[in-house]
Amino acid sequence: MSAANEIDVESLLANGPRNQWYAVCPSGFIAQKPVSLRRCGYRMVFWRGIDGALHALEDRCPHRGVPLSCGIAMGDRIACGYHGVQVDSNGVAVVVPGAPGGKLEGSKSTKVFPVEERNGLIFAWVGDDLHAAPAPLELPEELTSDEFSSFLCYAEWNGDYRYVIDNVMDPMHGTFLHKQSHSMSFGETKAAFRIVDTPTGFVFEKEGQRNVNFDWTEYGHTGALWLRLEIPYPKTGGPGGNFHIIGMYTPISENKTAVIHWRCRRLSGWQRDAWRFLYKNRLEARHWQVLEQDRVMLEQCDPDANQHENLYAHDMGLVRLRRVMRNQAAGQIAELAQAGRHAL
Ligand code: FES
Ligand SMILES: [Fe+2]
Repeated sequence: MSAANEIDVESLLANGPRNQWYAVCPSGFIAQKPVSLRRCGYRMVFWRGIDGALHALEDRCPHRGVPLSCGIAMGDRIACGYHGVQVDSNGVAVVVPGAPGGKLEGSKSTKVFPVEERNGLIFAWVGDDLHAAPAPLELPEELTSDEFSSFLCYAEWNGDYRYVIDNVMDPMHGTFLHKQSHSMSFGETKAAFRIVDTPTGFVFEKEGQRNVNFDWTEYGHTGALWLRLEIPYPKTGGPGGNFHIIGMYTPISENKTAVIHWRCRRLSGWQRDAWRFLYKNRLEARHWQVLEQDRVMLEQCDPDANQHENLYAHDMGLVRLRRVMRNQAAGQIAELAQAGRHAL
């Protein structure tokens, strides 16, 4: 690969590979008033129509580039606050008060982000010029099956989203960083790991150890990238067996990440009610404590920490996932180059 290409791939990776769904924020963040959010190298504006339908556009007026989010939402369109150009949810400048009948009026001049809301979260499709139409979004069963009950946990951390992904693709840190936690103080510290392929990705797991600690992480890609892990729970954690975590990590900027976790358990009936009560009253605070240990460690890293690594066998999982993502980005750059387009 040429040096120029290498720079393009790195820059695309820093903003997140294209042509997939990204978790944006909890549904409750967006009401009728426009909200500006940076994600994946774009500034996006989200708002809802009177019927509650969610819309998202690039947050830039096609006239002179001010944020559309500084304007006024009018159902399925936004009127720019600067000179009143109205852009609808299809990205078309439908009204141009200063130049009616001109070139801008009626043109599709603003990028549209297709959106979906699932399980309390907003997703946006970030497609490149060749893939504006979204692929289907399929989520792990913890988020779609009635057998599971889940809580959504949203945070923003300082640092590159890829460090957060590395962190989750690294079960071994549980035994050390989270040693004091209520659920991760057990387990072999010198375990051997292996990678097992799955239909949608792979599992990185400790050989011969399951249901002891944070023993494995699964990577899956089903329209969106997700990671899954399970942590066994002591009896005091209430009914429902292992605690499942589904994670998604979205770049906000090069130094900020939207960190999304669903904390899930397989249970129903009174057990579900008991767990939901226990979670709210006791477990949630503990989980935040554990997550804080991760955040503090990662936020202390310099941006170039990964330029000074000496990786060993426990890092096989994150090495594999980095390669998968790099190949994805390189493929997208190559496809765009062939079509004479640029990624960003
Ligand atoms: S910049 Fe938006 S209408 Fe002029
Ligand atoms: Fe952790």
